[in-house]
Amino acid sequence: MSVGIERLSVYVPQYALRLTDLAAARDVPPEKLTAGLGVQEMAIAPPCEDVVTLAATAGARLLRAADVDPEEIGMLLVATETGVDHSKPVSIFVHDLLGIGRRCRVYELKHACYAGTAALMTAADWVRADGGRVRRALVIAADIARYEIGSPGEPTQGAGAVAMLVGRAPQALVLSEQSGTYAGNVHDFWRPLDRREAIVDGKYSVECYLDALAGAFLAYRGLERPPLAAGAALTDRLVRLLYHTPFPKMAMKAHRRLLEIDGRAVDDDAAAASYRTQAAPGLAAVARVGNTYTASLYLCLAALLEAEGRALAGERLGLFSYGSGCCAEFFTGSVPEGVEAVADAGVAALLAGRTFIDVPAYERLVRGGEAGGEPPADFAGEFVFTGVRNQRREYARPGALAA
Ligand code: CAA
Repeated sequence: MSVGIERLSVYVPQYALRLTDLAAARDVPPEKLTAGLGVQEMAIAPPCEDVVTLAATAGARLLRAADVDPEEIGMLLVATETGVDHSKPVSIFVHDLLGIGRRCRVYELKHACYAGTAALMTAADWVRADGGRVRRALVIAADIARYEIGSPGEPTQGAGAVAMLVGRAPQALVLSEQSGTYAGNVHDFWRPLDRREAIVDGKYSVECYLDALAGAFLAYRGLERPPLAAGAALTDRLVRLLYHTPFPKMAMKAHRRLLEIDGRAVDDDAAAASYRTQAAPGLAAVARVGNTYTASLYLCLAALLEAEGRALAGERLGLFSYGSGCCAEFFTGSVPEGVEAVADAGVAALLAGRTFIDVPAYERLVRGGEAGGEPPADFAGEFVFTGVRNQRREYARPGALAA
């Protein structure tokens, strides 16, 4: 039985900041951000958007594009590290906003940026387990990445959500049942319960990411069926490699490390050529959105399929997911014939319609936090966080507020 992703839909907030503007405000050379980190723009959420509205908007876009009745969804998983309550999960707000039926298993998952993959794998296993009913799961990864203003992490912020329909008719990506995992307790990046912004040991987090990549990839190679001949490279057989991408330069470092671990004797020119062909095509959207934590890898996948789905039909992709703390997974998937019918995840249209703000406006939005309230006139989301009343978070459709 083929199980995998039937379709993906993306949502990113309406506002964006150019990293060249941020560089000027912080008095650093623009090339440090655009070439040194590889980031061009980052998405900024307005006060009326939180992780619930990001996730629900991506979910609504997906159900509409796939023409799926919300009653068909038997499992709803929301992966995030931007939770809104210590007890009440983001997923139950999303369940309500999307009108999903009562017969549904609903919960939120957390393990830093890895949780999106934890949710996808859990949903795929649940679909495979069957249980006597047609099983379709909705998996949504959504986050708002926040670091202190003026810190080295500041240019690696971002916001967005990716919704994935997981089932037995995977038109976007057939998931392989093999995957390699790696875990260990490290303090590279975390966010204590009383903080809005993450704490990060930046350089160490890059090392932890690369160590986890090696661990997960070697675990995958040990399970590969049929086994590869001794000395044969797996990466030669994967047409594209997608990485969790806190900033595009991280994916470039990861790709170089992967080629080495895979036994491909590569000099700098060969590594650069392989990066341009196998990894760079997956990075165009993240370079313009920034880090979306749990959603990052799946934003790469959605944008890649949207840009070149037809050309990738019949090909196999490698995917690497990393969550600080840490847990990581390397897995593969095959792009089915006919993928172009579902390849439009909305990425190009969203990026073309954004409003660029200046640094003072960005700082006002960040310092103001998620206050809730009226959406701006050019608001593109489908749900609004209206505020907290009686200790309860409240949401509405933008149209309902205007009425
Ligand atoms: N022109 C071109 N490049 C320049 C430059 C210039 N004028 N000046 C500097 N650079 C280059 C540097 O050489 C460096 O490149 P290399 O890494 O290839 O050597 C790059 O710009 C970054 O510069 P610095 O080394 O000075 O590093 P920084 O102080 O800017 O911090 C960072 C970089 C540590 C990644 C920081 O942005 C950070 O802490 N980010 C958040 C943490 C993060 O994203 N970690 C990634 C792994 S953890 C993970 O993946 C989970 C997650 O999502 C958070």
